[in-house]
Amino acid sequence: MDEATQSRLLERIAEHLAADGATTTDAAETTLSVDPSIYTDRDRWERERALLGNALTAVGLSSLLPGPETFAAVDVGDVPVVLTRDSDGALHASLNVCRHRGATVAHGCGSARRLICSYHGWTYRLDGAAGQRRGAEYFDGDAEGLVALPVTERDGVIWVSGDPSVVIPDDPAEGAGAELGPLDLAGHRLFASTRFVRPMNWKLAVETFAESFHVAVLHRDTLAPMIRSDATLSDTFGRHGRMVVPRRGIEEVTEGASLLPHATILWFLVPGTVLIHQQDHVQLYRSRPGAHPGECVLDVALYVPTDSPRSEDHWRRNFDLLVEVTDTEDFSTAAGIQLSASSGRAPTQIVGRNEPSLQHLHRSLDRLLDGDG
Ligand code: FES
Ligand SMILES: [Fe+2]
Repeated sequence: MDEATQSRLLERIAEHLAADGATTTDAAETTLSVDPSIYTDRDRWERERALLGNALTAVGLSSLLPGPETFAAVDVGDVPVVLTRDSDGALHASLNVCRHRGATVAHGCGSARRLICSYHGWTYRLDGAAGQRRGAEYFDGDAEGLVALPVTERDGVIWVSGDPSVVIPDDPAEGAGAELGPLDLAGHRLFASTRFVRPMNWKLAVETFAESFHVAVLHRDTLAPMIRSDATLSDTFGRHGRMVVPRRGIEEVTEGASLLPHATILWFLVPGTVLIHQQDHVQLYRSRPGAHPGECVLDVALYVPTDSPRSEDHWRRNFDLLVEVTDTEDFSTAAGIQLSASSGRAPTQIVGRNEPSLQHLHRSLDRLLDGDG
């Protein structure tokens, strides 16, 4: 995010603050009604599963593969994918499915000169091409490589689709890339990551980040003392969105200062990724459907600047705090919403005018499901 954008956003925050206690956060024109069956309906869920497997998805920052001859197994929706950098550092994505009998070829992440299937030992080069077929004399035809998938790396973010036919657009971030570029995301390293499997629809994990209205109540004792959720900004970039939530003390910031140290900035990379710039580090959340509509698989990663003087302890505390607060406060609340939706008795939900990013998220997803995203 460049200086000019930061100062424009700071001006908008100042206008909200100058309104002095009125309802001043960025607002939508109307409220939005949401049928709670979107969290339970099996047909919709199947369509969402297909969408998440096919959509071009922001899966991580560049340092997920920190150098030549590295690999990382990721799931795009429920499509198993392996990302690799070959010995020249070029990035590739393939279906993480062995051409022999379909076993998973790569597990976790690390360094390797080739990928070796742990079932019968067939190997693949890091560009996905076929290597040695163990027992080749017993197999007809030529050895085939892994199925190649579309992948790109823009502004320090890796985007990949589980659908081989997807054509990568010039700007998968639909304009948000111009803001991500100056953050030097490629200069961040992966500090830690973890996976949650929780009893909530995958959308609820994303939605909990898409409004700051709940912060003063749900996070009264944890986040609220640090946050001024009454001056939140909301903008859209095509299907994607961005929310700026100022921190307390922003009132004191003078003209020409940087916004980044004084706000939490969240980019919603629809459908399932939330990238959060948090003062001195970056968090990345990826949500996707679990085994049924009431289950979510959520990957959380913390990336930190490679040149930061901060200690490992500092980052560990940050990571533990974000995991604990989101799990005990946000996700347990979301699980309650899932329960109410599952009862079949829950009335229509109302998304307020003060929750415009959440409204955009709902509309974006509906458009993508309708095939015109
Ligand atoms: S399934 Fe991979 S070598 Fe047999
Ligand atoms: Fe929250």
